[in-house]
Amino acid sequence: MKEMQHIAAAGYQQASSSKQKVDGEDFIQADVCPKAGDAILDLGCGTGELSAYLAELVGPEGKVIGVDPDKERIQLAKESHNQIENLSFVDGSAITFPGIGAEDYDIIFSSYALQWMPNKQRVFSNMFSSLKVGGKIAISYQDRLPPFEFNAYMLLNPENAEHICNEMYRCESKTNIKHYCLSAGFQIVKHDHFFVPFAFESIESLLEWHSSTTHGVFDLSLVTEERLQKYLAPYLGKNGKPCLDFRGIKEESPVYKLIAVKQATNAKEENNG
Ligand SMILES: C[S@@+](CC[C@H](N)C(=O)[O-])C[C@H]1O[C@@H](n2cnc3c(N)ncnc32)[C@H](O)[C@@H]1O
Repeated sequence: MKEMQHIAAAGYQQASSSKQKVDGEDFIQADVCPKAGDAILDLGCGTGELSAYLAELVGPEGKVIGVDPDKERIQLAKESHNQIENLSFVDGSAITFPGIGAEDYDIIFSSYALQWMPNKQRVFSNMFSSLKVGGKIAISYQDRLPPFEFNAYMLLNPENAEHICNEMYRCESKTNIKHYCLSAGFQIVKHDHFFVPFAFESIESLLEWHSSTTHGVFDLSLVTEERLQKYLAPYLGKNGKPCLDFRGIKEESPVYKLIAVKQATNAKEENNG
């Protein structure tokens, strides 16, 4: 099991380099805008590539802590970025991260991780109590699984589909997320979405994606030729080969970007009034 998770962590590092890493860097440049000296928590940091990018941006006066409950991903993050002095990685979660309630962070950043977190109201309250006044959260999340992922779990791994879709993923609607955010005390600055251009070069890389993003729970050994044919049938092109470019309207599902600030109490009252 540990070995499988280790392979999945390495697979995630590889597979996310052209997707989450690219989107995450765009998000950081366009909306997160960290300043030199900022203290940042990267919640659900995975193998830490975006944490490392944030550490570079905040410079030696700043610091970044990456937190993730997947011990293998945290281990790989430590090994991959051990030369960066203002960056550390901790095994933890949105309920147990360092500095909860200490009002110590300027920014809490979280990329593609909120949809995995249970107890979202508590997650937002934790983030609020851990930010300095004037600090902000910057979160990208999915409110549903894209069809090419959902169908893969259902058709290629029906034995694990229920567990992956309902126990691992905890997708919730934009309306719910907005409610949790406001209830925790935040003021929302931005809450819009973009579409992720998912495309894969080969069936192998697509299957590897499904396996590594689910921490190895999507079991490659359960993917039979018959199941694969059924899964790929909607994607067959005129030449009879599957087109693994899921940028068609039917396959697109949104990724939301949420920026919200913790205002001083009197500023909040002025806004509400
Ligand atoms: C899709 S990955 C995103 C990783 C990284 N942020 C990136 O953009 O590449 C989602 C991450 O959320 C983590 N995660 C799952 N449940 C979590 C929780 N309760 N608290 C914090 N992180 C969690 C997973 O272990 C996983 O590494």
